[in-house]
Amino acid sequence: MKVAVTFPIPEPAKTLLSDLFDCRFWESEVPIPSDTLAEWLSEVEGVLTTLTCPLDEASLSGASHLKVISTVSVGVDHIDVDFAKSQNIMIGHTPGVLTDSTADLAIGLMLAVGRRLAEGDALVREGAWSDGWKPNLLLGTDLSKSTVGLVGMGPIGQAVAKRLAGFGCRVIAWNRTHRDVPGVEFMDLNTLLSSADIVSLHTALTDETRELITRERLSLMKDQAILINTARGAIIDEVALVDELASGRLRAGLDVYNEEPLPADSVFHSLPGCVLLPHVGSATQRTRQAMFELALRNLVSGMRGETLPAAL
Ligand code: GLV
Repeated sequence: MKVAVTFPIPEPAKTLLSDLFDCRFWESEVPIPSDTLAEWLSEVEGVLTTLTCPLDEASLSGASHLKVISTVSVGVDHIDVDFAKSQNIMIGHTPGVLTDSTADLAIGLMLAVGRRLAEGDALVREGAWSDGWKPNLLLGTDLSKSTVGLVGMGPIGQAVAKRLAGFGCRVIAWNRTHRDVPGVEFMDLNTLLSSADIVSLHTALTDETRELITRERLSLMKDQAILINTARGAIIDEVALVDELASGRLRAGLDVYNEEPLPADSVFHSLPGCVLLPHVGSATQRTRQAMFELALRNLVSGMRGETLPAAL
């Protein structure tokens, strides 16, 4: 049975897969070209992939033998899920195992933006910290006791809420469907945006959440509020966000963007009040290993025609 792997994977995973299946591995850091992808997909029963490789209707339409897509990601917005399901292709992803790492990073970004960690680091490294302790050097804002608004209260939102309890924060939240989480006040999205000192996004990118945070909604946020995004760039109207950041009215901690990687001439590089990360929410040794293990189990189960451990 044949498997395509659309991105470079660690050696142990390659060995394991090669022992089980006839594999084609895409080894280059340059994304697999769409014609190569289509050709490989036309031959295989399984594909191991990730979020840098779009599996849209065009690439899946010739995949007549494909039984299972296993993505090393929790997000599946790079896959045309409806089309895959209409073709009876199973989809496996990696929820759960990256919840804590992503929640940790969201808290890290809240602290980094509020306490101006990147600016402080740059000041020291540039040798520009010349006159010691000063009463007004790099004054920031506290996470402790602030009001934090969580948009999306799935497992990651809930893990962030747990952490914020330790900082004595008031945690307010919005979710598309009703939830009850102890210690969290639920409210409508617009009220949340106008009440929070920090807003953190934890919703999946779907047709319903694309540009959920519109220009009008951004304008509801308090002056100097902080927007944290460890979910997906396309949840925000990015042009409007850039305007708010460029004017200095809002601050942001961003791990994700509409276009990844950011183009060399991206306006984000010059925006003040931001901490910018390269989509590393789940990037710890332990979590990445767990993601690979789960994705491999999804793939192998799908190839055997069994229920996937983490099916969509
Ligand atoms: C990362 O963004 C993921 O979806 O796992």
